[in-house]
Amino acid sequence: MVPRVYVTSNEVPQSALGILKPVAQVRVNPRDKPPSRGELLREAARVEGLLCLLTDRIDARVMERAKGLRVIGNMAVGYDNVEIDEATNRGIMVTNTPGILTETVADLTVGLMIAIARRIVEADRYVRRGRWKVRWSPMMMVGSDITGKTLGIYGLGRIGLAVAKRVRGFGMKTVYYDNVRNQQAERDHNLVFVTLDNLLEMSDFVTIHVPLTPETRHSIGQKELGLMKRSSFLINTSRGAVVDEKALYSALADKRLAGAALDVFEKEPLARDNPLTRLENAILLPHIGSASAETRVAMAELAARNIVAALRGETPPNLVNKQVFRLKCVR
Ligand code: GLV
Repeated sequence: MVPRVYVTSNEVPQSALGILKPVAQVRVNPRDKPPSRGELLREAARVEGLLCLLTDRIDARVMERAKGLRVIGNMAVGYDNVEIDEATNRGIMVTNTPGILTETVADLTVGLMIAIARRIVEADRYVRRGRWKVRWSPMMMVGSDITGKTLGIYGLGRIGLAVAKRVRGFGMKTVYYDNVRNQQAERDHNLVFVTLDNLLEMSDFVTIHVPLTPETRHSIGQKELGLMKRSSFLINTSRGAVVDEKALYSALADKRLAGAALDVFEKEPLARDNPLTRLENAILLPHIGSASAETRVAMAELAARNIVAALRGETPPNLVNKQVFRLKCVR
């Protein structure tokens, strides 16, 4: 029987569908919005493969219904939207799209660092709102320099490392914290390993690149923000819930932190009346870290290739839950 694949978004590029179609019957969510919970439960129940987005919650309930499901191809590097242990126990392969979005996310991170330090977005609002009255004045819209400052990288995976490489061009000092030390990277890229507390205390810019896990959830909270210098900036292009957003709002509103540039939030989309939207010292983006046309096409194609490999009985190139094979053998 030809396997069936459900694609949860009709924005997934044709080239990715073209990879799936020779091996599967493909059904794409026809609507311009994510499937409702009911639709997802119904559709998952009739397929062997699922090409989904980070906004689709693939939990025990979905998997319980999806008796024939063999592979979940998440079109994202992060996979906190999928209950991995549940998938593993049920023998379902879970795949993600690492590597291809590294440079794109690192570019945006550096862009945000410059934008928040030099008040680029705020200055644009200043001009548009007609506040630019004096032709040039010495202290108008002054920000902070980047050159010579210290960047703290929380999470030295592929993206954290790509950021470290980029900022060498700015003559920044780079320190990092990760639960795994990478001495090769320390030698190659002039990185210094420190504790998370030390990183927060000494950095002028802190950038977050850890995945969202039970350990990292709210790992930047009131206490951690309190360790940062008043003149420092926080950049987050990983997952919103790594930061306790309420604590961050208070720190920014009370000027205990100079600014934050955020691409991700605890609840997305960010509500229009979220208090963060009232702050001039915050840049708020709609989760566009990997949003270049080239990268999004590459992500969709990789998600599709992972699914095809799994459906053919091969090991997908980006299998997240490798234990799935061990458990399958034991059964
Ligand atoms: C985007 O946030 C991703 O995880 O790919």
